[in-house]
Amino acid sequence: MHELGIDEALGPMQALASRLWSPQSRHHPGQLAWSARYAEPQVLRHGPVAVVHGRDGLDAWAWLESSDWLELCVDPQRPELVAELVAWARGRTGAGPSTSVLETEHHLLSGLATAGYVETDAPWFTHHTLDLVSLRPPTVPPGYRLRAVRPGEAEARAAVHRDAWSVTSRVTTRAYERLMATPPYRHDLDVVVEHADDGLVASCLAWLDPATGVALVEPVGCVPEHRGRGLAGAVSLAALAAARDAGATLGLVCPRGDDGYPVPGRVYRGLGFRPGPRTLTLAAGDPTA
Ligand SMILES: CC(C)(COP(=O)(O)OP(=O)(O)OC[C@H]1O[C@@H](n2cnc3c(N)ncnc32)[C@H](O)[C@@H]1OP(=O)(O)O)[C@@H](O)C(=O)NCCC(=O)NCCS
Repeated sequence: MHELGIDEALGPMQALASRLWSPQSRHHPGQLAWSARYAEPQVLRHGPVAVVHGRDGLDAWAWLESSDWLELCVDPQRPELVAELVAWARGRTGAGPSTSVLETEHHLLSGLATAGYVETDAPWFTHHTLDLVSLRPPTVPPGYRLRAVRPGEAEARAAVHRDAWSVTSRVTTRAYERLMATPPYRHDLDVVVEHADDGLVASCLAWLDPATGVALVEPVGCVPEHRGRGLAGAVSLAALAAARDAGATLGLVCPRGDDGYPVPGRVYRGLGFRPGPRTLTLAAGDPTA
């Protein structure tokens, strides 16, 4: 096992996520790109990554996304690595950072339980999938049009994301430029709704993993003044259609599953996405107990 910075580790981390991907696993290369790049580095203050090499790339990694949050990805054939990586994270932080796994990742759940981790009450996410063969065509009301983001349009693209999400969003122009340079980002899968007078008003970024054919939708947004007109649905369908045309066979999206924020899940299920496994959040118990 050795330690890397996130910039150096990201590619190998994505490769392992891709190799292990199934509807029962949590990580997708696009989610990792978004998590690593959605804000500028001095704002994100990401911690180090511990990586374990196998015969063909990595067999496991653990990322201290922050001082109190750990992301874990371990080949189910090497379950013993969970304990090693959790011990590393504990040593690095002086305490046990919390983490999240999919309920179907039994090797992680078992290793974390042995390391003293316990399930905790926290917002959770439900992975949803959609067979792209049955994708409906997108439609927008008069006055709006769907189109892909253009290279050099990072400023307007970051602004529509911020306007949809919140004024506290940390997606700056500079951050979006870095994101656009991060594989597997593609301009043709980054779709916006443009209004005749108001400019960009909704957006959806799809990330295609060519190895698995899975296109992850992350994130989707519509500015408050234009909500309730079907734009989030339409822009998601358009991004998924672009991904399908580029070779994707399955759509993936991971909205909140708890009752605290139910609208996005409704939007995606309205497009035909079907719910699968949910995430569980685990907190470190007392290692001396
Ligand atoms: C969630 C969000 C993207 C929805 O945008 P939108 O353009 O208003 O959504 P749409 O008009 O396409 O709605 C699609 C469906 O969701 C339903 N819906 C949308 N907002 C809703 C609300 N506040 N309450 C109940 N249902 C709602 C619509 O009725 C529609 O259902 P229908 O197809 O059966 O009519 C938007 O509110 C937003 O940007 N929120 C902040 C960012 C965010 O949470 N993104 C998603 C995270 S994964």
